Amino acid sequence: MVVPEQGQARKKRRSNGSADAHAAAEKRKQIDAERRQLPAWAARDRLLELLQQHRTLVLVGETGSGKTTQIPQFLLNARFGPTKSGSAATAATNGPAAAATEEGQAPQPASTSGRNHNGSGNVIAVTQPRRVAAMTVARRVAEEMGTPLGQQVGYAIRFEDITSPSTRIKYLTDGLLLREALLDPLLSRYRVVIIDEAHERTVHTDVLFGLLKGVQARRGDDFRLIVMSATLDAARFVDYFPGAVAALIRGRQFPVQVMYTARPEDNYLDAAINATLQVHADEGEGDILVFLTGQDEIDSAERLLKDRLAALPRFDGTAPGAGAGGGEGGTSGGAEEGAAAAVAAAGAAASRRELLVLPIYAALPPEQQMKVFEPAPPSFRKAILATNIAETSITIPGVRFVIDTGHVKSRDYNARLGLESLAVVPVSQAQARQRSGRAGREGPGKAYRLYTEADFGQLEATTPPEITRCNLSSVVLQLKAMGIDDVVNFDFMDPPPKTAVLRSLELLYALGALDPAGKLTPGIGARLARLPVDPMYGRVLLAAAEMGCGVEAVAVVAMVAAENVFHMPRQKEREWRAARLKFVSREGDHITLLHVFRGFREIPKENNKARTTWCSDNFINIRALRKAEDIYDQLVRCLGHPSPPGLGLPLSSCMGGLASATAAAGGLAGVGGGGGGTEDTTPLRRALTAGLFPHAARLQPDGSYRVIATGRQVFLHPSSVLLERKPDCLVFNELMHTTRTYAREALAIEARWLPELAPAFFAAKAGAAVGAAS
Ligand code: CDP
Ligand code: MG
Repeated sequence: MVVPEQGQARKKRRSNGSADAHAAAEKRKQIDAERRQLPAWAARDRLLELLQQHRTLVLVGETGSGKTTQIPQFLLNARFGPTKSGSAATAATNGPAAAATEEGQAPQPASTSGRNHNGSGNVIAVTQPRRVAAMTVARRVAEEMGTPLGQQVGYAIRFEDITSPSTRIKYLTDGLLLREALLDPLLSRYRVVIIDEAHERTVHTDVLFGLLKGVQARRGDDFRLIVMSATLDAARFVDYFPGAVAALIRGRQFPVQVMYTARPEDNYLDAAINATLQVHADEGEGDILVFLTGQDEIDSAERLLKDRLAALPRFDGTAPGAGAGGGEGGTSGGAEEGAAAAVAAAGAAASRRELLVLPIYAALPPEQQMKVFEPAPPSFRKAILATNIAETSITIPGVRFVIDTGHVKSRDYNARLGLESLAVVPVSQAQARQRSGRAGREGPGKAYRLYTEADFGQLEATTPPEITRCNLSSVVLQLKAMGIDDVVNFDFMDPPPKTAVLRSLELLYALGALDPAGKLTPGIGARLARLPVDPMYGRVLLAAAEMGCGVEAVAVVAMVAAENVFHMPRQKEREWRAARLKFVSREGDHITLLHVFRGFREIPKENNKARTTWCSDNFINIRALRKAEDIYDQLVRCLGHPSPPGLGLPLSSCMGGLASATAAAGGLAGVGGGGGGTEDTTPLRRALTAGLFPHAARLQPDGSYRVIATGRQVFLHPSSVLLERKPDCLVFNELMHTTRTYAREALAIEARWLPELAPAFFAAKAGAAVGAAS
């Protein structure tokens, strides 16, 4: 599958083919010259030599030294990839791996585990903690090698596989490699596995470490492992992997002058915008990299920044909005000319440059992601608004100024309460240093920390590994499905807290995935492990298939997974609320999402223009809907396909819409575009309850809710459609901490369903909490 080129590029090529080919050749020549300057190149021969002698190499190098993009190419060109094919694959499908899976669930040969895989054992896998990194790096490497993306070089992330049988270098998320290990425990299609960004210590990376140790022991000389890290703690990794050797790539790092604020900032977003404008006005050449916490924040920063720039006087001294009296009317002046509007900034007396504001975050479409890597046009300065993806996993050329808000969005898990949440938290000192370092890659730089030096002193030294602070149910399920029953004694580099493991065992038991002895149940457990969604949502899908509303449930789960469906600009609150009314269900956000999905699917895929218009009219994010549609199709396949890894569960519809056959044909015979007043949502709500019951909560007299399982007080998120008419009992998707703990995306349910649908879980609590309120 090759990503279609942009219309404009195509047109250009047609009119001017040879000039284009020439330009492409020139560009590659230039890229080639740049590549050879990277520190990784100086280390190439030594690295290849080390890898001949050692099965595990721990490679440490500054961010930007060429680890991710260059090392896989070195291996490929040194024929580290393609040699010795075949043997590993056979060993894996017939070998001792069979013992590692539950009876009744024979291991699948590699070739059946995905559309595009080959089982020849000659692929180089490179894991990334982040989807964006996998995508952008694969694209870059394909460009460097002069091959279309998806051929020699490809990437795979959950719900998206851009590889083919000829793929030799495959970038993928660590979570996906873990899933592959479920079906192919020896990872037989890979000759080399590179665990990149190991310093991030994501939970998936940590579990992979343990599994890879086993793979090494079994595959012997046939397999190589490279652990790459941007921080100097190689010793931890070397100690952990037997016979490992460490190597250092010497990077270049220029001095970075670090500045703090004199007083704490109350609003780091405002502070970041002010700082950006100030740097732009006062400083010489170089791009600005601003670290923010997430898409919403980046979107509003982009808007605010453009408004502020547009309101500034132009070079000739006139304000663009002057005619309108300067106030609100004038602010949108220049900002709407294009997606990445470039707006003149005043005060940039020394440089007279304009500012090009570019966002980068995971959900951004790839073409826009790639824009940050292009050099700014001659009279421009880039201001890149990034999440922490720009901390280590991607390197953006040209950056000389870093603005660090000191915050990051992080998952956190309270094992005692059994609740996972997403919260904006202060960074660690190591993260702050890493952020500042991004200013000194190409010359001396400056970093502005939007907090005081004293606050810096109070930050944690490093971020604890994710495995110590996350919900483990998905990971424990995977391990169980691989036949690793004694999860507590699994060879973790840093073991997770025992309470967290116990919580996840309890949850999996309550979901029916484990039996009382802690063994994977062949029905529910084995199926849940194969579904590429969290076990709670997996349970929703299984229950829905049984209750005859599989089609609707898949649509809801796909919409939840797609995230950020509604575009809710603050200045247009009245408009988007009015638009949303068409879809709103009094039964909650899940049903509302279903209505949106149905409305979208009623417009044929081919009619892109109509879909775009429909989305913008309704304040709906078309990217999210396209993604939801993809996920929907994949989950339908995953559940319905008769042979593994499909689960062979036929899906039917309870609401007269969304039949799977019509879905496959691209259309959903729907019940009107949205509201559908008379539909019976009971089966669907019951199915959702069957998986989300640990997140059931009851209304309290003060208008807040109390989570039944934990007793914790939570508030309905302001974006929930249930806010107007709060139901007595609900289930929610997740919690989010800001000033309070908010429950996001909630569904009205009947309290009496709980003991019925999750008897083991509510047996003890039935008398007390379930009956208590009201
Ligand atoms: O992995 P590491 O941080 O060591 O470096 P890398 O990601 O391999 O990046 C090496 C160089 O390639 C950097 O200087 C980047 O600026 C450049 N690069 C790029 O220009 N465009 C990309 N999409 C990725 C990397
Ligand atoms: Mg890298």
